[in-house]
Amino acid sequence: MFELKDYHVAYGQSEVIKNMNFTLNPKEIVAILGRNGMGKTTLMKSLIGMIPSSKGSVTLQGKELKAMKSHERVASGLGFVPQGRMVFSTMTVQENIETGLTSTKRNSVPDDIYSMFPVLQEMRKRRGGNLSGGQQQQLAIARALASEPSVLLLDEPTEGIQPSIIKEMAKTLKQIRTQRNLSIIVSEQVLSFALDIADRIIVIEKGEIVLDTPRDAVDESKIAAYLSV
Ligand SMILES: Nc1ncnc2c1ncn2[C@@H]1O[C@H](COP(=O)(O)OP(=O)(O)OP(=O)(O)O)[C@@H](O)[C@H]1O
Ligand SMILES: [Mg+2]
Repeated sequence: MFELKDYHVAYGQSEVIKNMNFTLNPKEIVAILGRNGMGKTTLMKSLIGMIPSSKGSVTLQGKELKAMKSHERVASGLGFVPQGRMVFSTMTVQENIETGLTSTKRNSVPDDIYSMFPVLQEMRKRRGGNLSGGQQQQLAIARALASEPSVLLLDEPTEGIQPSIIKEMAKTLKQIRTQRNLSIIVSEQVLSFALDIADRIIVIEKGEIVLDTPRDAVDESKIAAYLSV
């Protein structure tokens, strides 16, 4: 349903994502693993239209996204949770989530979002900047869900989050996948989280796929070797 073909992204002459091919199936969770600087953020930002791709195609339900601006991609069904969360710190929790509604016909936050993240309901009048890192990550996910995506992109969601909260996040994301019938692409460096959440694991090195394997067939030591410096 979401497909990359011969996909390339470059900053000027420097090619950072090279010849990437993969297909994301409905309701599938794919983890893209790679060390620092391997191209995870570049890939995510290009998929959501913040930086252009230089070659190849990216399609969602058969529709080519390549020439679309970010807001058009969101309207077509892509949701994005950026690395570092990028919560609007002076806006309230509720206002932060409402920014995700612009591509929909709704004007208030759907109830199911607050039932997925009860802490956000409790804190809905608080400023985003006053939340903890884990709460801000929930807020960033809630904001992305407000646009009713069919594919959710998350860029290193576990960064700076403590292990017990990471476990909780994996559980929540799997519930969201089931409740909302969506597919997820998550970039990561934390192997345990990827193993916890993903149906399929892709490893990238210098912008190229070096391993693409179903979760059930994973050779953990091999992946760990790719991730160790
Ligand atoms: N705006 C830019 N202009 C030029 N090169 C860039 C730019 N942004 C990133 N790069 C380079 O592209 C490569 C991939 O960076 P990217 O941020 O995509 O990696 P990453 O896998 O997300 O790393 P991390 O795990 O640290 O977040 C790096 O070599 C980086 O220096
Ligand atoms: Mg990154």
